[in-house]
Amino acid sequence: MTSVLFVCLGNICRSPAAEGVFRDRAAAAGLDVTVDSAGTGAWHAGEPPDRRMIAAAARRRYDLSAQRARRVDDGDGYSFDYILAMDASNLSDLRDRALPDWTATVRMLHPGRDVPDPYYGGEQGFETVLDMLEEGVDALIDEIKSGA
Ligand code: 4NP
Repeated sequence: MTSVLFVCLGNICRSPAAEGVFRDRAAAAGLDVTVDSAGTGAWHAGEPPDRRMIAAAARRRYDLSAQRARRVDDGDGYSFDYILAMDASNLSDLRDRALPDWTATVRMLHPGRDVPDPYYGGEQGFETVLDMLEEGVDALIDEIKSGA
């Protein structure tokens, strides 16, 4: 059983979508996984994902509607195998708040490439996020399957 926590800034756009994409694709690949998502910020705690993200994901058959935002907490670094940031700013924030004995592997989903924040942009931004997440999640699934 591999556990993965996806992290962005608000936990209402990118990381909820990553959670939904990974849950579906890991199940299709026959992988036994635990998955969750969280934000480095708490502004949207308790809220469902952004309606534009829910709609864009639903067009690709990912259901994000039951998710609720939360902030990253101290326990996450012990309970997850991977904590995967959406962009370099999220990674920097995670490294600042990490405890010295966290056991999780903390890195970006796409090393060296930001999944761009779609919050203040147009509809295309949400499609770009989903395209990048599908690609990144498939690479992650290959990595987990190969036992890396
Ligand atoms: P996310 O997008 O980090 O992909 O969830 C954002 C959502 C909300 C805000 C920032 C980013 N915000 O500042 O409210």
